Amino acid sequence: MNIYGKHYRTIWLKEDDARIVQIIDQRHLPHKFVVEDLTTIDNVARAIKDMHVRGAGLIGATAGFGMYIAALRAPKESVEAFTQTLIDDGETLKATRPTAVNLEWAVNRQLAAMSEVDDVAGKVQVVKATAQAIADEDAGFCRRIGEHGVSIIEVISQRKNGETVNILTHCNAGWLAFVDYGSATAPIYAAHDRGIKVHVWVDETRPRNQGARLTAWELGQHGVPHTVIADNVGGHLMQHRMVDLVITGTDRTLYTGDVANKIGTYLKALAAKDNDIPFYVALPSSTFDWEKRDGVKEIPIEQRGAREVKYIQGLVDGELKWALLTPKDSPAANFAFDVTPARLVTGLITERGVCDASEEGVLGLYPEKETK
Ligand code: MRU
Repeated sequence: MNIYGKHYRTIWLKEDDARIVQIIDQRHLPHKFVVEDLTTIDNVARAIKDMHVRGAGLIGATAGFGMYIAALRAPKESVEAFTQTLIDDGETLKATRPTAVNLEWAVNRQLAAMSEVDDVAGKVQVVKATAQAIADEDAGFCRRIGEHGVSIIEVISQRKNGETVNILTHCNAGWLAFVDYGSATAPIYAAHDRGIKVHVWVDETRPRNQGARLTAWELGQHGVPHTVIADNVGGHLMQHRMVDLVITGTDRTLYTGDVANKIGTYLKALAAKDNDIPFYVALPSSTFDWEKRDGVKEIPIEQRGAREVKYIQGLVDGELKWALLTPKDSPAANFAFDVTPARLVTGLITERGVCDASEEGVLGLYPEKETK
């Protein structure tokens, strides 16, 4: 993705010192573009927990590079001590955010890769290569999600005789939530690049405002027409046929088709169903949970601090400032995600193609996951 005309990924190894991992600190966007160095496992854990980086794919990629940092700093005298440090640091990373399944997936992938090699130096090399592979794969998967998802937009555009296709999205499942391209945004970028007329309704996504701050910013950088709306507007727009299609991302999707995504997604899916508007979820296979079956009962939902609900951050006279919104002493609850049952999801857009949000649909694309 190009930012101010220069190509960036969201995470990379520093050009002149590959022991340093660099990220875009998303807390400052859209007002400031800040690159942060990560050199310790505490840096990495804080960057994930406090959302310097966020979004399913990027959390996974950061965990992958975090394990590389852990490997660089782990004791090298014995294989046992080295391995135990990586297991412990992996647990520290896994505890940072419970809903995004990519986190656990990336740590486990690193531990499995490392166990294939006997000596410490070899393990460090494998962990570095695996971190890079996780990041490259994420970018490649998102690019393919774009290639598969664009046909859904194309069909609607043809039906509308080339008139603008209005797409509603929630939160940020753009390139900032991955290593590049994004999941929900990848088909939108692909459509825009092919000259299909698109316009995006961007839900602001309280309380962290990832839509207003991040999705609006990255769509703007790519020149995609968009309008930021308050979270409660979507239903009204759908009733008035001002939305042709909803595409969201997901932090964890069960192989049965239940989708965990940013809080408020479920309400958009209900409104879409009531108005016969297609509701698609875009995800790379690293976001599938292949074990759980019932999303509402089984997916752990992260609860975050009340401060995110009670305060709002913005630019005041060129400075980022926090303002109190609520009565000072009112308690606030902050559920970060909700679950949209499979029956409300029109389809899943993956790197292998589009499928029904059902066990049959998902296993049809990923037959190797069939256990029977
Ligand atoms: O809390 P966040 O910002 O990490 O939430 C993740 C998200 O951005 C969304 O839920 C997104 O739609 C899915 S992640 C690609």
